[in-house]
Amino acid sequence: MRSLPADLVGLQEAYAQPAEGIWLRANMISSLDGAAWYGDRTEALGSPGDRRLFAALRGMADAVIVGAETVRVEGYGPVESGPGWEVLRGDRPSTPPLAVVSRRLALDLDAPLFTRAPADARTLLLTTETAPADLRRAAERVADVIVAGRDGIDFPRAVEELAARGHRRLLCEGGPMILARAVADGVLDELCLTLSPTLIAGDPSRIVNGPPLPEPGRLRLAGLYEEDDFLFLRYTRPTR
Ligand SMILES: NC(=O)c1ccc[n+]([C@@H]2O[C@H](COP(=O)([O-])OP(=O)(O)OC[C@H]3O[C@@H](n4cnc5c(N)ncnc54)[C@H](OP(=O)(O)O)[C@@H]3O)[C@@H](O)[C@H]2O)c1
Repeated sequence: MRSLPADLVGLQEAYAQPAEGIWLRANMISSLDGAAWYGDRTEALGSPGDRRLFAALRGMADAVIVGAETVRVEGYGPVESGPGWEVLRGDRPSTPPLAVVSRRLALDLDAPLFTRAPADARTLLLTTETAPADLRRAAERVADVIVAGRDGIDFPRAVEELAARGHRRLLCEGGPMILARAVADGVLDELCLTLSPTLIAGDPSRIVNGPPLPEPGRLRLAGLYEEDDFLFLRYTRPTR
C-alpha cells in the first residue's frame, strides 16, 4: 500500500480535483468502530498525517463549508495559511473563506472567525429564510450572509451560490449533521475518510448523521494511502 504523500505537492497530486465545474469533497475522520468524535472533539482520533492532509485539503479549496455546531465545539477561527501554500493557492486569496451553515445563527460574532478573517476571505454564513431577522442583520455586519433554503439549508442552492462567488472547489469539514444534509441532497462528489486505528465505544455519531437514505449511496475507491496505522481513503461518486 502506498504511503500518504509527505509533502504538499504529492498530496495535491494524490487529491487532485477536476479542472472545471463544481466539486464538493468532504474530509472526515472515523474510529475503527465508526465514532466521529471522542469526548466531543475529533482531536483524539487524529495523527500528524491526518493533520497534514486536513491542512492540504484546505489549501486546495476555494471555500470550506462547516456546520455551526462544529464551529462552536471545535472553536473554529479563520483558515490559517501553511508553509508552501502559495503552490496550492496560485492566484487565489492566500486562504479560503469558511462558509458556516447555521439556521439559528447562534454564533459569537465577536469571535476571531468573524473579526480576524482577511478581507479577501471574509467568513460566509449559509442560512435559511427562517433564521431570526435580527441575528441575520447583525451577522451581515461581519460576514457575507447567503440565504439558501427556507426551513433548512438547500445544499444544491448553497453550492450554486458559492460557485457564483467563484468558489467551485468546495471542502466540507462536517460535522456529521451537515454532511448528512449534503449527502441527502445529492451534492457530495468525494469523501476523504481517515480511518483512525482507535476503538471508542459509547454513543458518538457516525460521520454521516441524518435520516436513512432511500437506498445506500454507493461510491468508488479513488485512492488509498497509509501512515502510522492510519488509512486514508478517497472515494468519489461514480457519475454526477
Ligand atoms: N469526525 C469528523 O471528521 C468530524 C468532523 C467535523 C466535526 N466533528 C464533530 O462533530 C460534532 C459536531 O457535529 P454535528 O453533526 O453535531 O453538527 P454540525 O453538522 O457541525 O452542525 C450542526 C449545526 O448546523 C446547522 N444545521 C444543521 N442542519 C441544518 C439545516 N438543515 N439547515 C440549516 N442549518 C443546519 C445547525 O446550526 P444552528 O444550531 O446554528 O442553527 C446545527 O446545529 C463535534 O463534536 C465535532 O467535533 C467530527
